[in-house]
Amino acid sequence: MASSLSFPQRTSRSIAVGPQRDKDAAVRQTDSDAALARLSAVKRGYLHDPFIAHLVPRPEFQTPRPPLINIGTYLRSSALDELVDRWLDLSLQQGKQCQIISLGAGSDTRFWRIASGPKSSALASYVELDLEENVVKKAKAIRKSIELSTVLGDAEQIQIRRGGCELHARKYHLLSADLRKLNTLNQLFESQQTGEAPLLSPGIPVLLIFECVLVYMTPDESNRLIERFADYCQPTLTPLGAVVYEMFNVGDSFGRVMLNNLSARGISLPGATPYPSKQSLAARFLQHGFTGAHALTLRDVRYLYIDVRESERISKLEMLDEVEELDLVLDHYAITWGYSSPTADAALWSTWALYPKSSVQNDHDEEDL
Ligand SMILES: C[S@@+](CC[C@H](N)C(=O)[O-])C[C@H]1O[C@@H](n2cnc3c(N)ncnc32)[C@H](O)[C@@H]1O
Repeated sequence: MASSLSFPQRTSRSIAVGPQRDKDAAVRQTDSDAALARLSAVKRGYLHDPFIAHLVPRPEFQTPRPPLINIGTYLRSSALDELVDRWLDLSLQQGKQCQIISLGAGSDTRFWRIASGPKSSALASYVELDLEENVVKKAKAIRKSIELSTVLGDAEQIQIRRGGCELHARKYHLLSADLRKLNTLNQLFESQQTGEAPLLSPGIPVLLIFECVLVYMTPDESNRLIERFADYCQPTLTPLGAVVYEMFNVGDSFGRVMLNNLSARGISLPGATPYPSKQSLAARFLQHGFTGAHALTLRDVRYLYIDVRESERISKLEMLDEVEELDLVLDHYAITWGYSSPTADAALWSTWALYPKSSVQNDHDEEDL
């Protein structure tokens, strides 16, 4: 399961191969895996998300995932939510709102959770980008669901464009784009021939979310993408943050089995191979002029970055026999974040981080960056 956690012993579905094969079908399909894993974590009580069931077909019939997947989904979501929440706080501390761009957003519900939560006023705009087929599917689900569309604002403010390949509301924009082709992102940066203003505004802090997407692209493609945003933000003195969740450290035997399993499903991870360590993940941002960058494995998050009471609550939800196996899997997934800010505000933005909460060390050894 590429999108959440991958198990070497798992039997994989395969996608048809041959001349008719749609080369991106398997990668688009990883979104269903991610959405089903999230639904499962919600059903089992790990996460609270009233919106995910509206983005999954027949949610009541979907069988829950094993505890390892639920825990991994919980850790990934909690760490990302906390970083996003802190970015909203820091923007407010600067007396500003912020712009969030979720790249390869799939069926993610983060916009709805923020917009219906206590920090909604911190949000200037939220843009989601994904391959066209996934966008069309999400736009349809949004139109069909009162729970999703009400959060977007009045019905007359919701516009479907380009035959369902785009949806726009007051603060929310869902766009079709291929992140490997920078020209498909023009709406963010440039005025349109129709006279519409670019979706991004200079000077308003920008947060990029790459939740399990860069790994499907080559390092050159993802470097160009990150650079495009840095080139927009740095000259206009716009604070820029980026958070990445993905597999890494795939050179060991566990990693090789994971790559083989995914390959049987028609999925390759060109973006995982060049990153053997947390340092290498952080370095990808520093090379684009980011001021600071850090990376943690999900195993770090599990032992040090979850509140003790919350860890106790999670441990009571399901029986977990395979703790060592869980740790091994979690060692191959990382959360990386990087920021770039104008010099005058550097002290404020440098506080954007996850902070250790638990002193439960076990035999866990945190590596300093
Ligand atoms: C594993 S899913 C993750 C979805 C969501 N970010 C989450 O974590 O729940 C990967 C998503 O990235 C999208 N994606 C992969 N390559 C892409 C590309 N080149 N351009 C746009 N989207 C892409 C896929 O279509 C899919 O929706």
